[in-house]
Amino acid sequence: MSYSLEDFCADARASLKDKAGADARQIIKARLERLLTNADFVAEHAGPKAEAGIKTIHRDAETGMNVLVHVYAEAKAAPPHDHGDSWAVYGQAALHTDMTVWQRTDDGGTAGKASVEPAESFRLEPGMAGVFEPGQIHSLSFPAGARFVRVTGTDLKTIATRRFDPDAGTVLEDKGVSGVAKT
Ligand SMILES: [Fe+2]
Repeated sequence: MSYSLEDFCADARASLKDKAGADARQIIKARLERLLTNADFVAEHAGPKAEAGIKTIHRDAETGMNVLVHVYAEAKAAPPHDHGDSWAVYGQAALHTDMTVWQRTDDGGTAGKASVEPAESFRLEPGMAGVFEPGQIHSLSFPAGARFVRVTGTDLKTIATRRFDPDAGTVLEDKGVSGVAKT
């Protein structure tokens, strides 16, 4: 039998309860890659006929973990941002996503100001997953039609996250009350 969403959620829940944070995330990454080999899962949630938008397909009451599917009709580039205290694991379902990890180079001493520099880039191809630890700054870009699964430790709409503008040298905090979808 193929590895289902339910199997993935059970394994992720167990790893979050039993393992240290970073170890749990690595297990979730491996299991998400396994879930993406399930053609029926991909077809149902992130196939060519999937409706564009961001959909939460599982919310774990015990751990707070969220599983979302992102389906994009148009190409997009999301600026550098973090997920606050939440981790995230992205798993590519269709086309690709280019990820860049950014390093903050200022001391954070001035409210609203921030210097960030790109540190590392990689491309997620279908079936590949990538982990971002809590507070890790990243940006992404993808072509029209890209689809991915994103697993987060917490519902991001409920926590403070930050968005950076490298050219302006600014940072904007979203305190988690806007309800705006985050990438
Ligand atoms: Fe993100």
